[in-house]
Amino acid sequence: MPYTFAKSQALFERAQRSIAAGVNSGIRKQEAPVPLYFARGSGPNLWDVDGNHYLDFQLGQGALFYGHAPAGMAEAIAAQARLGTHWAAQCELEPEVAERLQAMIPSAELVRFSNSATEAVLTAFRLARAHTGRKLILRFEGHYHGWADEGLVGFANPPGAWGDDENPARLHPSKGVIPEVLEQFVVARWNDPAHLRRRVDEFRGQIAAIMFEPALCNTCCLEPVPGLMGTIRELCDRDGMLMISDETITGFRFGAACAQGYYGFRPDLTVLGKAIGGGTPFAALAGTRAAMAKILSGEVIHAGTLNGNPLCLAASKWCLDQVRALGASHPAGIQQLGHRLMAGLSAMAKEHGVPLRPQGPGLIFHTVMLKPGAAEGPIRDYRDYVRRHDAPRWAHLRRCLLEEGVRAIERGLWSISLAHGEKDITEALVRSARAFQRHAAGWPPAA
Ligand SMILES: Cc1ncc(COP(=O)(O)O)c(C=O)c1O
Repeated sequence: MPYTFAKSQALFERAQRSIAAGVNSGIRKQEAPVPLYFARGSGPNLWDVDGNHYLDFQLGQGALFYGHAPAGMAEAIAAQARLGTHWAAQCELEPEVAERLQAMIPSAELVRFSNSATEAVLTAFRLARAHTGRKLILRFEGHYHGWADEGLVGFANPPGAWGDDENPARLHPSKGVIPEVLEQFVVARWNDPAHLRRRVDEFRGQIAAIMFEPALCNTCCLEPVPGLMGTIRELCDRDGMLMISDETITGFRFGAACAQGYYGFRPDLTVLGKAIGGGTPFAALAGTRAAMAKILSGEVIHAGTLNGNPLCLAASKWCLDQVRALGASHPAGIQQLGHRLMAGLSAMAKEHGVPLRPQGPGLIFHTVMLKPGAAEGPIRDYRDYVRRHDAPRWAHLRRCLLEEGVRAIERGLWSISLAHGEKDITEALVRSARAFQRHAAGWPPAA
């Protein structure tokens, strides 16, 4: 049966009469042919209100690392809900979750909980500025650190306003942001240690922290080139800056010790989101005792009515125990599934003459669609991605995949969950083969 979306369409039309633009996070409008309305999920499976079934690799923007509606987590939340949903005070679950983080992540000597990674990022910036008495944060082009004023500088710089390769521009994609926000950042290109060194030297003595996604999952899944993490650590130690690893996506997906364990580096502060709460609104800032000192002394304020919410803590405790129970088999287990899916998609692309190039460490990966005439070889940074990725052609294939019941993140990111198994990958590849056929037959669309 071909997929149709009449009920989602009707609900979206209804929602636009009461919800601004019909959605509660701008990015959700990108889903074509219509923002979907979901009825239920189970493990790697998702059903929308029209009854369409998807093998889900979008996974709630990566938060559902344990799949949809895991029974153990549902029970943990329900048991806590019967005891109390919110106290704005302490409960035993707080140290229970914090101690798990300490045991899993060597740099997590102390933690603070928040409701979203966006908030944890803001806490990290405030701590870094208080710690150093300096204003600037160095961040990289194409990295996403939440939707607040400070998280988005340099995220999606439009070509033509990039600035030259040596001086990436400080731009903000949203209106309503005061220019002073931009002046608090230095933007550098990702994956060029020599360029980074020059950028730090240019602003030496003024930079409070270097902030980064350790694998740049928000732009094309760009793993750090060898030596990059060592260069960041060395520069931070040399100049007294804090090294802040934003592990909102990589946290727990890349192993119990997160991407810092996987790539072998030790940051001063770590932002944790998504998988830490398995789909509940939960995040944490973890750090060394030295980096957290200004919270200990009370000089830096970190607050929030719902911080350390017991429902989220109950969920998080269950989530972290799943990761710990996997022991040394994680992340190799999901990585092997991801590599199989990447290889299958590559083979189909070759068979149908589609220039699709999956890229990433398998735990998560991005499907790059090369523009006509674009050079082969791995994408290196944000500019390289924008120059070589054919976004309209990917959008066409993505829609064909969706209509065959395979759901990736709109911009081309695929996440594997602990709920996916070999048979789900096999089924996803069978469905993808049909999607490739339709894409090859329908691209380019008739004018
Ligand atoms: C790397 C990174 N940092 C921060 C955030 C913000 O997380 P949240 O949407 O939970 O505030 C995201 C969200 O996608 C992210 O990918």
